[in-house]
Amino acid sequence: MLGLRTTLAVAAVTLWSLASAHTVITYPGWRGNNLHANGTPAYLNPDSIGIDHYENGTTGFPFGMQWMYPCGGMPLSQNRSRWPVNGGAVSIQPGWFPGHSLAMFYINIGIQEEGMLAPPNMSHPVVPPFQISGPTNVEYDGQFCIPQVGMPANLSLQVGQNITLQVIEAAQHGAALYSCVDLTLVDPADLTKEEQVGPNNCYNSSNLGFNLVYTMSAKATSGASSRIPPIGGLPAALFATVFATAVKTLW
Ligand SMILES: *[C@@H]1O[C@H](CO)[C@@H](O)[C@H](O)[C@H]1NC(C)=O
Ligand SMILES: *[C@@H]1O[C@H](CO)[C@@H](O)[C@H](O)[C@H]1NC(C)=O
Ligand SMILES: *[C@@H]1O[C@H](CO)[C@@H](O)[C@H](O)[C@H]1NC(C)=O
Ligand SMILES: *[C@@H]1O[C@H](CO)[C@@H](O)[C@H](O)[C@H]1NC(C)=O
Ligand SMILES: *[C@@H]1O[C@H](CO)[C@@H](O)[C@H](O)[C@H]1NC(C)=O
Ligand SMILES: *[C@@H]1O[C@H](CO)[C@@H](O)[C@H](O)[C@H]1NC(C)=O
Repeated sequence: MLGLRTTLAVAAVTLWSLASAHTVITYPGWRGNNLHANGTPAYLNPDSIGIDHYENGTTGFPFGMQWMYPCGGMPLSQNRSRWPVNGGAVSIQPGWFPGHSLAMFYINIGIQEEGMLAPPNMSHPVVPPFQISGPTNVEYDGQFCIPQVGMPANLSLQVGQNITLQVIEAAQHGAALYSCVDLTLVDPADLTKEEQVGPNNCYNSSNLGFNLVYTMSAKATSGASSRIPPIGGLPAALFATVFATAVKTLW
């Protein structure tokens, strides 16, 4: 068991170095490296709108590319991954920077209909939102894997169709990081050995926890009025109730 854990930890470390850790889709791939923060820092450019358009035609991202909706500053890619038509695995290396020991995750797809150049939106959720927790509030490594992300039942997706999978990681303060991977749907039987899911590309690191997330009416909490609790005065007990979480199987 220790041997297995050590192997997994080493594998996670080699996938991405700690220094640049943010959200990375380790399976079925990603559009490309969007971990850059290369724009003019906001404190030097009060006019910044989060993306700098330079005269030489390049762009800069003072806060980092991953903050850009819908796909973290990356355009549609040509190197699509092949993925099962009925849905498949998604492995995510959440990465951490100081102060981010908790994060919310959303996973959606955008569907490219015949003749479309790109998906019109990323409005099809494929898992309920969930929270992950890490061991400390400073940077650390590790990944998690959802072995079977299902496709929404009311969508009839076809073999050969192109979709884009979008992963959103919302930090504790609500700011969201975006990563995408472009996919072509295939018959699962047609996946090559390298494309198939196994313990080498789909595993949960032991340092990550999962929390269910739900909401309830403020009226339902005893002693609380139906109004939103006063900002700055949210009692700890109410906070704990509203954001109550349970470690259970999510999917
Ligand atoms: C697509 O190409 C980019 C740029 O070379 C690379 O970073 C990325 O990992 C590739 N993605 C896939 C799914 O092959
Ligand atoms: C484009 O201009 C920006 C801002 O001056 C600079 O940082 C960047 O290196 C330039 N890129 C190229 C390819 O010349
Ligand atoms: C899917 O995208 C590829 C380019 O990445 C394109 O060649 C192909 O025609 C597209 N398929 C469909 C069904 O639109
Ligand atoms: C999102 O795109 C789908 C096609 O994939 C379309 O049917 C749907 O109306 C769009 N939803 C919104 C909110 O635009
Ligand atoms: C498909 O079902 C989901 C719930 O599973 C719903 O939110 C969505 O509106 C439905 N879409 C269509 C096009 O019926
Ligand atoms: C990782 O943990 C989640 C949440 O408990 C679970 O749904 C998923 O199946 C696990 N992945 C693997 C590869 O065991």
